[in-house]
Amino acid sequence: MISMSLQKQIVIKSIIAADITQEESINNLSAELNNQPIDILINNAAYLGPPDPQKFGAIDYEMFTRSFEVNAIGPIRITERLIDNVRSSDTKKIIFLGSAAGSIAQITPPVTLYSYRSSKAALHLAVHNLYHELMSENIMVSLINPGLVDTRGFLDLKPEDPIPEELTKMVPETLIRMIQEGKIPMITTYESVTKMMSYIEELTIETKPLFVNCDGTPMPW
Ligand SMILES: NC(=O)c1ccc[n+]([C@@H]2O[C@H](COP(=O)([O-])OP(=O)(O)OC[C@H]3O[C@@H](n4cnc5c(N)ncnc54)[C@H](OP(=O)(O)O)[C@@H]3O)[C@@H](O)[C@H]2O)c1
Repeated sequence: MISMSLQKQIVIKSIIAADITQEESINNLSAELNNQPIDILINNAAYLGPPDPQKFGAIDYEMFTRSFEVNAIGPIRITERLIDNVRSSDTKKIIFLGSAAGSIAQITPPVTLYSYRSSKAALHLAVHNLYHELMSENIMVSLINPGLVDTRGFLDLKPEDPIPEELTKMVPETLIRMIQEGKIPMITTYESVTKMMSYIEELTIETKPLFVNCDGTPMPW
């Protein structure tokens, strides 16, 4: 549980571990929270998975299923379980981390990441439902694409550096090359989070559209 001040400082009050795919774990989380109001529920957890088992012709269906469990079902399951905590708060904001990778309108070759992209697109649709569902209760729902964020250390790579094996296990090599050559701009975690915090702070029930980038600019579905 965290509190955000206007000065954009984060104070961590407590951490409760939970697996968002496991009913028992979610129940434990809910019990630990013990009806405490949640001002801002941020659904951030996701599973990207390695790129090779997400290629057509070699799809790993267990992994495909896991992507859906974590990325599409988990955030809705957690939100359903904790909705009364949000209802009882003053702020009533529910944030979902979506992805440009799940934007059907933005798909361009090279086509990659079948399971991750499909699961994020499914999440986007479910969040769209929820947005309409909760509006009458003045509960704000927002779907944010954080940008291409350097949570893995890509920005430390110089253009001439060989690509470390651990990175190719996470992201398709073609994509890493494009990041390395500066063709795909990547932002730091600090930049992305700072922008999202400002956006979330300003969010009201009138804010549109639902699906935005970290700076609040519209994202195509
Ligand atoms: N980074 C980007 O460029 C980018 C771009 C677009 C969208 N996003 C979205 O932004 C969010 C954060 O991205 P990120 O790059 O920080 O992701 P990340 O580094 O892969 O972190 C994902 C987090 O989700 C947790 N998680 C995975 N499965 C879980 C489960 N079953 N239950 C609970 N927690 C689970 C992981 O916990 P463990 O560490 O314990 O496994 C990890 O802390 C994600 O929703 C992602 O899809 C990121």
